[in-house]
Amino acid sequence: MPKLLRAFLFLIPIAFLLSQTPASDDPFVEKPYLQLGDSPKLAKSESLSLMWHTGIEPADWKVELRTSKGSKWRPAGAPLPQAVLAPGIAPHLVYRARLTGLVPGEEFQYRVLKAGSEMFTASARARKSAAQPQRFILFGDCAEGTPGSRSIAYQVSRANPDFVFIPGDIVYTAGRISEYRDKFYPVYNADSASTETGAPLLRSVPFIAAPGNHDTALANFGRFADSLAYFFYWDEPLNGPVAPAGAAKTAHLLTGNTEAQAVFRTAAGKRYPGMANFSFDYGNAHWLVLDSNPYMDWTNPALREWVDKDLAAARNATWRFVSFHHPGFNSSKSHFTDQWMRVLSPAFEQGKVDIVFAGHVHNYQRSYPFTFSPLPQPDDKLVGPKGEVAGAWKLDKAFGDGAAAKPQGIIYIVSGGGGAGLYNPEQQGDPSTWQPFTYKYIADQHSFSQVEIDGRTLRLKQISETGVELDSFQIAK
Ligand SMILES: [Fe+2]
Repeated sequence: MPKLLRAFLFLIPIAFLLSQTPASDDPFVEKPYLQLGDSPKLAKSESLSLMWHTGIEPADWKVELRTSKGSKWRPAGAPLPQAVLAPGIAPHLVYRARLTGLVPGEEFQYRVLKAGSEMFTASARARKSAAQPQRFILFGDCAEGTPGSRSIAYQVSRANPDFVFIPGDIVYTAGRISEYRDKFYPVYNADSASTETGAPLLRSVPFIAAPGNHDTALANFGRFADSLAYFFYWDEPLNGPVAPAGAAKTAHLLTGNTEAQAVFRTAAGKRYPGMANFSFDYGNAHWLVLDSNPYMDWTNPALREWVDKDLAAARNATWRFVSFHHPGFNSSKSHFTDQWMRVLSPAFEQGKVDIVFAGHVHNYQRSYPFTFSPLPQPDDKLVGPKGEVAGAWKLDKAFGDGAAAKPQGIIYIVSGGGGAGLYNPEQQGDPSTWQPFTYKYIADQHSFSQVEIDGRTLRLKQISETGVELDSFQIAK
C-alpha cells in the first residue's frame, strides 16, 4: 500500500473521534435564549430576560449589551443561577440575566462572557411600543422531534418575527427536561437555519407560551422525575391567579417521588404554579394567557372576575387577544368534547376580544366571527361530564376574508399544526363534518399563523411548512 494512502487511512479514525468529541470549550448545556420575563407592561425603558444552562460548577458569568456595532458595550444585570437537581438528569444551573435599558423596538446585540472571555453573541430586538407596527408568529403542538417541527422553525425564521407565541403542548410527550434537551432547544435554538436543522430563533426572538396538557398536566414525579420543566425553563409574567383555595378543582397536585417534588419546587420558585395564567402587552395589543387544563375551573367566580378585570383594564389597547391550549370551538373529531373554555366566551365578548388563539387539535381552523351564549346542561351545570358546553352562536357570515370589514364577534383560531402528528385530515375536504362556526379547515400539512399589525389594521396569514400561504384575512378597525 502506498505510504500516502496508509497515512490517510490512519487519519480517518482520528478525525472521526475528534468529530464525535464535544468541544471542551463549549460552556453551555443550552445556549442563551430570550424570554419576556416578569414584565407584563410596556415601558419607556424596556427589558428582556436572557437565560442559558450550564453544568453545575458556578463560574464568573457576565452579559453585555450594545445597540450598534461601533457603540460601546455596557453591562446587563448580573446573571443569577438556579440549580436543577432532578433525579436521573445531570445536575445543571439555569442562569437568568435581565437585559435592561432597551429602547422600544430597537435592535441590539448582546454577548455572554465567562471569566472575561466572550462565549456567545447574538442580536435581538426590544419589545415594541404601541406606536410601532409588529409581526408575531403563533403555532402550538410543536416539539415532537419531527421533520415538520424543523420545517416550521425554518419557515418562522424566514418570516423574521418580533416574537413567537406557543399556545401549549410545547414539548412532547410530557414536558420533561430530557425532552426539552432532545426536541426543543436543538430545533428552535439550532446554530443554522434549514429544514433539516430548525433555526437559531430562541437566541434572537423571545418565545412566550401558554401551558398545554403535555406541558403541565403530567405532574406525577413517580413516573417522570424530570417533569414540569415549563416552570423553570421559561420566564414569563407572574401577574395572574392560581385556582383559589377551596375551589371545586385545585391547581394540579404534585404526586409521587417526594424528593423530586422538593427539587422541582426549589427550581421553579414562585413560577410554580403562578406562571400559568398571565397577561402582557406587546405594541398596541393586549394578551390574556390562560391555563385551560382541566385542573382549572373557569366557571369559578373569582377566576372569572380576574378575566373581566384584566380585559377591562386593557380597554385602551387597540387589539385584545386571548390564548390558551384547549379550543372551545373545534370541528375535528379529535378532542371534540374538550369544550370547557366556551364558558368564558361571554367574558371575552364583554372585554372586546378580537381573536382567541388555541392549539391542542393538530391542524388549522378559522371560525366565522361570532358571539356565543352558553346554556346549562340538564343538571344545571355549564360543563357536561365529557367537557361539552351547549349554547347558541350568532355567526357573522358576511365577514369572509375581511379587507375593510369589521367582524361582528370574535374569531376563534386553532393553530395546532406546529409539528406534531396532524389530526383528522380526512375532514378537510368534507365541510359537512365541520361545525357551523368553522369557515376554514386545513389539516393536511403543518402550518403557523403569521400576524402583522399596523395601527388599526391586522392581517393574519396561515403559512405552511413549505412556505405556502394557506389562508389569509384582514381586520380593519
Ligand atoms: Fe394538547
